[in-house]
Amino acid sequence: MKTTVLGSGAVLLLGIPLISYFVAPSLKKATGKWVDFGAIDDLTPGSIEMLTYEFLVKDGWLVLPQRGFVWAKTNQDRAIKVFSSTCTHLACNVIWQEEANHFICPCHSGRFDSHGNPVAGPPTKPLSTLESKIEEENLLVYLTF
Ligand code: FES
Repeated sequence: MKTTVLGSGAVLLLGIPLISYFVAPSLKKATGKWVDFGAIDDLTPGSIEMLTYEFLVKDGWLVLPQRGFVWAKTNQDRAIKVFSSTCTHLACNVIWQEEANHFICPCHSGRFDSHGNPVAGPPTKPLSTLESKIEEENLLVYLTF
């Protein structure tokens, strides 16, 4: 009887931290960070430009690279709006095509206008607008991962 109680206690003492170690990372909420995309003077008024990023993220016991891109739309008055590159249909990356004046998704031919609104193909929701701000003349965008 005494051995069984001690054995159960040992299993609990070892088991709970072990389970937490493996399960906790998968239960964590999405996090994010402000990413500096450089000087706003480098953006061209009246254009939509791809801005790429790459940084490392600690995910539980792993450190993983995060790479991708966003689309910055700079109006003639230099107001900046940043769109996610993720298609709202099934999450492929959309590409801005200047000559077509549309974002085009290569996966299922989805199309979005220059405001990010869906205009053709399967997407029904607009491209996400990402939170952005300007600090010390640099464009910062809040990215979640
Ligand atoms: S994932 Fe973009 S249209 Fe399907």
